[in-house]
Amino acid sequence: MANDTKAQDWLQGWLNGVMTMLALAISPRFIVLAICGLVTALLIGIGIVDRKLFDALLVPILIFGALTLLGVYDLVQTSHAVLRNYPISAHLRFLLEEIRPEMRQYFFESEKDGKPFSRDIRAVVYQRAKMQLDKRPFGTQEDVYREGYEWMHHSVSPKTRADEKFRITIGGPDCARPYSASVFNVSAMSFGALSPNAIRALNAGARKGGFAHDTGEGGVSPYHREMGGDLIWEIGSGYFGCRNRDGSFNPEEFARVASEDRIKMVELKMSQGAKPGHGGVLPAAKVSAEIAKIRGVAMGEDCISPAAHSAFSTPIGMMQFIAEMRRLSGSKPAGFKLCIGHTWEFLAICKAMLETGIYPDFIVVDGNEGGTGAAPLEFMDHLGMPMRQGVNFVHNALIGINARGRVKVGASGKIATAFDMARAMAIGADWCNSARGFMFSLGCIQSLSCHTDRCPTGVSTQDPTRARALHVPLKIDRVCNYHHATLHSLSELIAAAGLEHPQELRPVHFSQRTSTTDVKSFAQLYPSLRPGELIDGTDDPRFRDAWQLARVDSFQPAA
Ligand SMILES: Cc1cc2nc3c(=O)[nH]c(=O)nc-3n(C[C@H](O)[C@H](O)[C@H](O)COP(=O)(O)O)c2cc1C
Ligand code: SF4
Repeated sequence: MANDTKAQDWLQGWLNGVMTMLALAISPRFIVLAICGLVTALLIGIGIVDRKLFDALLVPILIFGALTLLGVYDLVQTSHAVLRNYPISAHLRFLLEEIRPEMRQYFFESEKDGKPFSRDIRAVVYQRAKMQLDKRPFGTQEDVYREGYEWMHHSVSPKTRADEKFRITIGGPDCARPYSASVFNVSAMSFGALSPNAIRALNAGARKGGFAHDTGEGGVSPYHREMGGDLIWEIGSGYFGCRNRDGSFNPEEFARVASEDRIKMVELKMSQGAKPGHGGVLPAAKVSAEIAKIRGVAMGEDCISPAAHSAFSTPIGMMQFIAEMRRLSGSKPAGFKLCIGHTWEFLAICKAMLETGIYPDFIVVDGNEGGTGAAPLEFMDHLGMPMRQGVNFVHNALIGINARGRVKVGASGKIATAFDMARAMAIGADWCNSARGFMFSLGCIQSLSCHTDRCPTGVSTQDPTRARALHVPLKIDRVCNYHHATLHSLSELIAAAGLEHPQELRPVHFSQRTSTTDVKSFAQLYPSLRPGELIDGTDDPRFRDAWQLARVDSFQPAA
């Protein structure tokens, strides 16, 4: 009797199991796998019964059989939960995820949509690079009553359009070989982040258009040298191209490269807006013989950019290092690039300028809206001061220590049009750099896969089969055209405002809507310090406390 009950329980359990399996097989989750399995079995069965049909059924059998095997694999694999629950069908999700950016761009993006750069901005760069009609019909698509909307003021007596080859001289009294720079230049992007062809086209475009090309921190590559354009040589904490075996700075190597005629300025990278305070590692596997040679690192070892510099550790040390860079380069303009973080640190650098009497020839201020090849999301989205506040802070701090006349200020951070340039220059920039604007001129389609080495346009890849897509002679013209057309547009804006040179732009030339009914002038939003105000003692809340905290012997705040 007990045995009969056990057998019944077992049978009941087995039947329940089978019913569950059958129910699962026809549930939406597993239906695709079930159908594939059934169709495969059916086709094989028909083929066995009628041998003459077997050949004709071979291809469908192989297709459905392969899908069934894939489904079974999906069921048992452990890396993707969604595939375990939706065998075969969940692959569609992965496919759609893969092409999502393209689908958005092609079908759903409006003119003002698109991130980081809207479709409108990308389109105007493409049109200018191709010298196509860059005008728009019918009227603005901007909501001019939304909070944050900004505009530039025109004059009732506009000037005739000025010379569009706006240039400035960079190099203070301690620099014997100042550089006459365009007000619009190619921002720092390393060989490694960009392909050889991209570097070639940018450099030759810069040469053709008479502007400068920043090497980025990855060293001066043969592709930078090949085309003969003016270079700004950037060194970061890895000192690539001028380092000892242990990663420390090598002055002889620096002097050797910096003395090359094509290098017009030398730049110390303190930080970059998209990932300030974050070092970098190029994994050993990606350190090719070519990259190892250019960067001066060992092949087969991780190539590390530490978060901090090893050549100095205090504001005074940093100024002495800048003086050393200037001396070793043969008295070319020497400066640094940073994104503003703790405000007392920048003021500590200013105090060190006063203390040592050493001033950089230029400072490039990058905003946290700036671009990168790859960075952690938290760093990109939430670390560092945005460009406009940063530029205005540096501009005012230099006024406050009576150094604005000798130190030029560059700005970078989503500057792609003449309006972007004019706005940055009104609040303190002497010139502007663009990285992604020039990438668009090379053909970048903002597919946002720079970090995967699968760039569809050959701009940011080291895969030669992809990089070949970038046709250098054509892109040289486009880089040059984009620069030329942007400065042409800037000259029109300047003339409309009744001015002759963008250096005449002031905060009072711009306004911003602060609510639907209120408007403020940039002069109210970005008030200026008086010359020497920091030295004399300031009550300005943007500077007062930070100035007290700043010390020349440490980047740490005073206790
Ligand atoms: C692909 C890529 C690589 C970059 N590499 C560097 C670099 O080596 N050194 C540096 O200082 N900035 C680097 N940057 C930052 C740019 O020079 C620039 O400061 C920033 O992108 C803001 O300009 P944008 O908004 O015009 O792109 C890189 C940016 C991009 C997009
Ligand atoms: S096309 Fe895409 S992957 Fe290539 S540079 Fe542009 S954003 Fe990066």
